[in-house]
Amino acid sequence: MGRRVHWLESTASTNDVAARLAESGAEEGTTVVAESQTAGRGRHGHVWFSPPGAGLYLSVIVRPGTGLDSDQNPANLLTLASGVAIAEAVRAVTGLPAEIKWPNDVLIGRRKLAGILAEAAMQAGIPEFVIIGVGLNLQSAAYPPQLAPHVTSIEAETTRPADRALVLAEILAALGERFADLRARRFDVILSAWRRLSPSLPGALVEWDSKTGIVRGYAQDIDRHGALLVRVGATVERVVAGEVRWVGRE
Ligand code: BTN
Repeated sequence: MGRRVHWLESTASTNDVAARLAESGAEEGTTVVAESQTAGRGRHGHVWFSPPGAGLYLSVIVRPGTGLDSDQNPANLLTLASGVAIAEAVRAVTGLPAEIKWPNDVLIGRRKLAGILAEAAMQAGIPEFVIIGVGLNLQSAAYPPQLAPHVTSIEAETTRPADRALVLAEILAALGERFADLRARRFDVILSAWRRLSPSLPGALVEWDSKTGIVRGYAQDIDRHGALLVRVGATVERVVAGEVRWVGRE
């Protein structure tokens, strides 16, 4: 990861730049980093606030090839593995108790420090490449008022400026290690690291919108596909898509 890094002053979205590079044959691990993004995006069409210098905005090209079982969704598993890598990298560089909130938020306490957006380019049902986009808050910024109470940054938590290059290097090293686990089909290793880094998940009250209205239940675990398992009454439901709201942790 990161043997080739494209460093940009400003771009719309590093995920788009990385996808264009991947389409023209860039190798796995090629990384795009921007000082700011003018159209940074998060999951579910959300905007990712990306002012200059306040965050690390990076995208990495992954070519999963045939390393996964045919019933496994590479973007989901790469997202899980990336969450583990980012939380581990933050812990290693800062000593902060970073945790993962399913599927891919990295939190300190209840505040979001980093998010991951995995976007797959499929060809005949097989992922040609996946772009792993990571946004990580390095220092406080003038966040929109509705966002401010829910986000934090490395500088806000440690009261020291974050070493951007060190954080980037540690993230790339951790992503490389966790993707190697994935490629070697060490799913159990990734899942147990994920569970360790997500200690608040079991028993958390969650809800989501279904065709028949709001469904509520208690999160139990994740399965080998990365789906969330939620106890609803007497049954256990798998949640793979949609926006789960964490009622018990808000
Ligand atoms: C989320 O939590 O919703 C995911 C946020 C992902 C943001 C990063 S910043 C770098 C890359 N480029 C984008 O446009 N998005 C991702």
